[in-house]
Amino acid sequence: MRRVRLAIVGLGNVGQRLLELIQLKRDTLRTRLDLELSVVGVCDSTGGAENGVGLDLAKILELKRAKRGIAAYPTGARVEMPPLEMVRTVATDIVVELTPTNLTDGEPGLSVIRDALARKMPVVTANKGPLVLAYSELAALAQQNDAHLLHSAAVTGGLPTLNIGTRDLGVASIEKFEGVVNGTTNYILSRMAEGQSYADALKHAQDIGMAEADPTLDVDGWDAANKLVIIANAVLRRPTKLKDVTVEGIRKITPTDIATATEHRQTIKLIALAERIGKDYNLTVRPTWLDNSHPLARLGAGTMGVIYHTDINGTIFASIEEEDPYPTAAAVLRDIVQIATTRA
Ligand SMILES: NC(=O)c1ccc[n+]([C@@H]2O[C@H](COP(=O)([O-])OP(=O)(O)OC[C@H]3O[C@@H](n4cnc5c(N)ncnc54)[C@H](OP(=O)(O)O)[C@@H]3O)[C@@H](O)[C@H]2O)c1
Repeated sequence: MRRVRLAIVGLGNVGQRLLELIQLKRDTLRTRLDLELSVVGVCDSTGGAENGVGLDLAKILELKRAKRGIAAYPTGARVEMPPLEMVRTVATDIVVELTPTNLTDGEPGLSVIRDALARKMPVVTANKGPLVLAYSELAALAQQNDAHLLHSAAVTGGLPTLNIGTRDLGVASIEKFEGVVNGTTNYILSRMAEGQSYADALKHAQDIGMAEADPTLDVDGWDAANKLVIIANAVLRRPTKLKDVTVEGIRKITPTDIATATEHRQTIKLIALAERIGKDYNLTVRPTWLDNSHPLARLGAGTMGVIYHTDINGTIFASIEEEDPYPTAAAVLRDIVQIATTRA
């Protein structure tokens, strides 16, 4: 049995579900892959805990569900251990980085990822911030140090957008990518198509915890643009920053726009688009009037979807209904397993 040690930074929605899935899939990992995943270090905003033989995952989940921090973990706990110290101190095989997306300076995730890769330590992250701000730098660091940096959950959660693009379309030329990649705006536009006003649909999205109190990142298109930046870098192999994307959000969509679209058998969706123009791509995020027969027009609230138009692999459409972050955590687990099973 191969034992692979994990240090996990961030135990929120995704981190806690990852711990649940590691428990749930323990037997499958053993019998199918001869693999034992052992969590030897964790930290949240209160501190860190480490145990070289493996931490008690049930105890960690019990603490988090009781709204207590890792600083309260009983034996072997080292409190006030910030993320960087935890990943430097704990003898681990993979660093899993699941802190909040910070698009200002990428921290604390960016330093954790940089430090781990520089020490030839493989990294799995679901965090868009460091990737949007420093994709080229991190990819180069990973290559120089022969260390994996896998981040399939960072774009569209459980929908394997990046894996399809990088692995399954690895030899193709991608002529066009189009996607509904932001759940909140798709929810709002879907509710508006059912007759709600923008304000009511947004309020409902906020009431059910889907939209933030400050919805700017979603409704003004920036979240979708951030995802497009990662797709452009990872899949289209185009060094891309946020300034390269033309962005327009959904705030200005009116009931009249929706009614006109309906009259013409069309649906309005916020589309992230990369269109090949010569050797480059034109990158946009904007509300787009799609014929109702278009696969992305049919995506309901709570669904995301992407389409790759290629030269040799045909046209591939994939979608996911993701109402809680289990599929995101499952994508993180898949990345961990990919690294664990390809190590020498
Ligand atoms: N939720 C999703 O469906 C989803 C989907 C795709 C990608 N993602 C990305 O995945 C990442 C994690 O998402 P999430 O929903 O799990 O976030 P979350 O619920 O906000 O959890 C973040 C975790 O990071 C910890 N943390 C925050 N600042 C820290 C610091 N300075 N040092 C150490 N730990 C710190 C928090 O500690 P406390 O527990 O003490 O607060 C918490 O445990 C984010 O980057 C997010 O954008 C999420």
